[in-house]
Amino acid sequence: MSAKAGAAWTLLAGALSGCRGASSVLDPAGPQAARIEAYWWLIAGVSALVLVGVTLAMLYAVWHRRQRPHAEPEPFPPPGLEHRRGRIVGTLVALTVIVLGGLLAASFATDRAIAAFGAGYGDALQIEVIGHQWWWEVHYADPVPGRWAVTANEIHIPVGRTVKLLLNAHDVIHSFWVPNLAGKQDLIPGYAAYLTFRADRAGVFRGQCAEFCGYQHAKMGLLVVAEPPADFAAWLDRQRSPAALPADARQQRGLAVFLARDCGFCHAVQGTGAAGKSAPDLTHLAGRQTLAATALPNTPGHLAAWIVDPQTAKPGNHMPPHDLDPADLEDLLAYLGSLR
Ligand code: CUA
Repeated sequence: MSAKAGAAWTLLAGALSGCRGASSVLDPAGPQAARIEAYWWLIAGVSALVLVGVTLAMLYAVWHRRQRPHAEPEPFPPPGLEHRRGRIVGTLVALTVIVLGGLLAASFATDRAIAAFGAGYGDALQIEVIGHQWWWEVHYADPVPGRWAVTANEIHIPVGRTVKLLLNAHDVIHSFWVPNLAGKQDLIPGYAAYLTFRADRAGVFRGQCAEFCGYQHAKMGLLVVAEPPADFAAWLDRQRSPAALPADARQQRGLAVFLARDCGFCHAVQGTGAAGKSAPDLTHLAGRQTLAATALPNTPGHLAAWIVDPQTAKPGNHMPPHDLDPADLEDLLAYLGSLR
């Protein structure tokens, strides 16, 4: 391999390795995503062949013309030339139809195969996901109403078990997309849509709303945490329990600030008077990795900035600014930080 070809290969390999990671179609974590990846490579391969073919044909035409720089077009082409050219164009048109038809058939086969994975979801874990401008509401239903769990923007799933999402939207159309696990599925207000997938290895996979849904569409992310079944069961048990009681006087004052500032009109904290439904449930807020649908890491500093001035980090979101005095804010942070 020449030095140039070696450099080109290194560059291509480097570019594609950048495509692996926590939010990539090229790093599938389950069978549905693996089918989509296979189809991606088929399209990439066929497109590369077509690109090489067209480029070679163009270079040949340029080279051919340069062999005869002063040649004039012939007024009467030799007999048979038009016919030959017609045959070449006809063959290329037929080839194009065959290639595009083949890709269409492969797309259909991929779609059917992914749908077939979902057919045997008898023991699938059902999770309801509701899209809001601009966050994700997540429900883990249970036949016993007291065992329902509600969270937001972070979905935990057990490794090796099929998950069936029931998708709905509260306001406008959103689209659920976690590239490492499955294809996109629209969430449409008033219409139940489903998406089934399975994670075969543990990991944290980043998802993103994939349908333009307003000003902060780009900051409507989510995390899917795939973990061993025992860890998942422990997590779900924690989510089902009501919020931790304030452990000291400071957290007690923080809860009082939370209730006095009417946070509970929009947010719920199970076990307190706060039962709002129009914003993320905060019962186990401190256990989540991010704030504001992955827009910010979940640290006390970011949480403080978010409470005081949420419009700077995510302009247009529905949370108003809060003019808290520093002591109240400290107490409130102590309380929210205890909600594990
Ligand atoms: Cu929700 Cu874009």
